[in-house]
Amino acid sequence: MLKKLLITRPIAAPVLEQANATFAVTVHKGGKLSVVDTARALAQFDAILPTLGDAFKADAFVGEMRCKMIGNFGVGYNHIDTDAAAKAGVIVSNTPDVLTDATADIALTLLLATARRAGEGERIVRSGKWGGFDGGGILGTHVTGKTLGVVGMGRIGQAIAARCHYGFDMDVVFHNRSPKVVSVPARQLDGLHDVMAVADFVVVATPGGAKTTKMIDEAALAAMKPTGIFVNVSRGEVVDESALIVALENNRIAGAGLDVYEKEPYVPPRLLALDNCVLLPHLGSATQETRQAMAQMALDNIISWADGGDPPQRVN
Ligand code: GLV
Repeated sequence: MLKKLLITRPIAAPVLEQANATFAVTVHKGGKLSVVDTARALAQFDAILPTLGDAFKADAFVGEMRCKMIGNFGVGYNHIDTDAAAKAGVIVSNTPDVLTDATADIALTLLLATARRAGEGERIVRSGKWGGFDGGGILGTHVTGKTLGVVGMGRIGQAIAARCHYGFDMDVVFHNRSPKVVSVPARQLDGLHDVMAVADFVVVATPGGAKTTKMIDEAALAAMKPTGIFVNVSRGEVVDESALIVALENNRIAGAGLDVYEKEPYVPPRLLALDNCVLLPHLGSATQETRQAMAQMALDNIISWADGGDPPQRVN
């Protein structure tokens, strides 16, 4: 009999076709799963292909357990308690590498759009209030030759550093929780605040989870230059969102480019009201090619488990 696979969001058609040919597939249609939903899914399915927002918290792993494999769609898996999963005998895998370039590209999109005030400019053109070119206008911050500070120098952090160094002649400094040798010319500084203080652009690319929650707090933001621009492409909870809003409201920093939020998809109205930030709806990996590659990698891990192997992107 075919193993039962739950897919919690629509995925690319060719990957879904392969899943249907291999498993008895159910595609969930109702949005993100609560802890009650995930507990039920763990009791009913042999394998699950979930994504960000599906609450696989410790409580979900204490009841009846049919599931043996969670092939997460996404590199970040802070929505899955991997220790509780391991204790319950459930393997978890993720989708690294395939989304590195797309996510680094979104970081650059936000960095440039915030520095050059592209959001404001676009709103003015659409409002019909643009009066034509003049010597003043919407003056932004020059990017080329400035200093980039990366917080979290993993695969995505290094891809951002490479784009900024080779593409924009930027000096790169970084903060990483462990010492890191990297292939891009870049200096690891002693503390997070050293990076926040020296950088013209701070980009956060660290994984989410308990160890990094509110790592960017009021004090870290206060260490930034008043001309500094802050970009987050990791997880909303890495930043104290209220402290960031206060810093932006008081022009303590020049601007922010955000792809992620503390309570997605909720975006605080005070943030929406600010002109000095560019806000995207978690688009980091959102290209057709990347999303298909992520779905394929998640499915390949589940197939590898079903065939009796050790999933190549296993994380627990
Ligand atoms: C997206 O945020 C991911 O973790 O893949």
